[in-house]
Amino acid sequence: MSLHSIKVFSPATVANIVCGFDVLGFALSTPVDELTVSISNTKGVTIVNEDEFNLPTTAEKNVCGGALLAMLDEVKDVAGFHIISKKNIMPGSGIGSSAASAAGAVIAANTLLGNIFSKEDLVRFAMNGEKVASGVKHADNIAPAIYGGVTLIRSIHPLDIVCLDAPELHVTIVHPQIEIRTADARQILKQNVLLKDAIKQWGNIAGLVAGFLQKDYDLIGRSLEDVIIEPVRSMLIPGFDEVKQQCKEAGALGGGISGSGPSIFMLSKNKHAAQAIEKAMQSVYDKIGLAYHTHVTTINTEGVKIVMDDKR
Ligand code: HSE
Repeated sequence: MSLHSIKVFSPATVANIVCGFDVLGFALSTPVDELTVSISNTKGVTIVNEDEFNLPTTAEKNVCGGALLAMLDEVKDVAGFHIISKKNIMPGSGIGSSAASAAGAVIAANTLLGNIFSKEDLVRFAMNGEKVASGVKHADNIAPAIYGGVTLIRSIHPLDIVCLDAPELHVTIVHPQIEIRTADARQILKQNVLLKDAIKQWGNIAGLVAGFLQKDYDLIGRSLEDVIIEPVRSMLIPGFDEVKQQCKEAGALGGGISGSGPSIFMLSKNKHAAQAIEKAMQSVYDKIGLAYHTHVTTINTEGVKIVMDDKR
């Protein structure tokens, strides 16, 4: 095994941003996963987990493994990679836990290879990790984790990723302690959409993108509406409507289900509002009697960060 190792912090992400199912996402400053990757003489990908989540260590069944096996298919002179993974983003929480693993792994491995691949290639490899996790290749967590900030995935075949400028935004997340599998949360969605709903939805997506670019907080708030996915998925999340209402009263611009849930996110203009929103979330789940975690954070414009390049 090579002594050269790269350690990265790979961020949680919020996919969909309410109205943009599978096409919009942003990266969070916290929480982050920690991954250390080195080149190995053993063929394939070996994985050691240093956390309590008991994730599979067989490469084909592991998100990092799936992503790096796809990369290895396109690399000639490297047999394999070894990964040490310490997850701080709880799997199944809806804030891009699997994407953080896959994105962190491909960025660290590409650094070891001398950055031979483009960011777009890395998204392509990392999407194989998402396939391992949920059976579907979607990029709305992967792209913001790799590029940072807010990203629009205009298309995945072929990949067309657009980084969007955005104003300073604070993010409050509540993760009620139930698990929703992305595969299940996708299964329950209706396959047909009414034209009147589609019109509302694409008006909101365009409004949200324009709101980010024009740094127009009111337009962002008005556009955080989902008439297609949220009405179905919100039934899986206890207290969802109450959380939304209380958070808006506490100063949220708006928000909704983070990815496929069960986490709920809210955007706000400043830290003071973000903390008031956290209190509102806590009071709803305290009343219901459901355990939860909260995060008060910001949009992370950097994406996966290399924190150690150990060339010994
Ligand atoms: N866009 C995906 C979904 C994100 O909502 O199913 C999953 O994290």
